[in-house]
Amino acid sequence: MTPEEFKEALASWATGVTVVATEWEGHRYGLTASSFTSVSLTPPLVLICVDRRAESCEALLRAGSFGVSILALGQEAAAMQMARSGEQKFEGLPFEPGPTLGQPLLRGALAHLECRTFRADDAGDHVLLLGEVHAARTHEGSPLLYARRRFHGLG
Ligand SMILES: Cc1cc2nc3c(=O)[nH]c(=O)nc-3n(C[C@H](O)[C@H](O)[C@H](O)COP(=O)(O)O)c2cc1C
Repeated sequence: MTPEEFKEALASWATGVTVVATEWEGHRYGLTASSFTSVSLTPPLVLICVDRRAESCEALLRAGSFGVSILALGQEAAAMQMARSGEQKFEGLPFEPGPTLGQPLLRGALAHLECRTFRADDAGDHVLLLGEVHAARTHEGSPLLYARRRFHGLG
């Protein structure tokens, strides 16, 4: 199997889209992540797989807490902006600190989760970041989906 065959097959897996963000030592870090999934109800755990080369990887590990925004249809531009590198990618986006843990949440998202790092494990060139969810809020709207390297809506 070539890396391209592997990536092409995995691109067929349709997902939602999240923005995972943290503030650490006075700077904001974050990335667009589609590798998000729920893991456990008791305790409430979610998982995100973060590329070790991502600038936000170390900050997410060190900060000890992070916010997850589950994006709504219409937030494609925010998803693309947060998939760039550098702190300026936050510019112009309506982030606000979560009321429970204070980590950045993107306004207009379908749902917000405030997480403390439960555990982090190495997995090849990625880090498995398990978050324990301390607060969750849901808003009206339709989910943003991602498959075959394109954004989609339901239906
Ligand atoms: C739709 C979409 C989904 C993505 N999912 C992930 C993901 O699950 N994990 C990851 O490490 N990078 C993912 N990326 C890539 C990161 O968002 C991108 O590498 C980003 O620039 C990392 O930012 P940083 O270097 O500031 O941390 C995704 C990008 C897009 C557009």
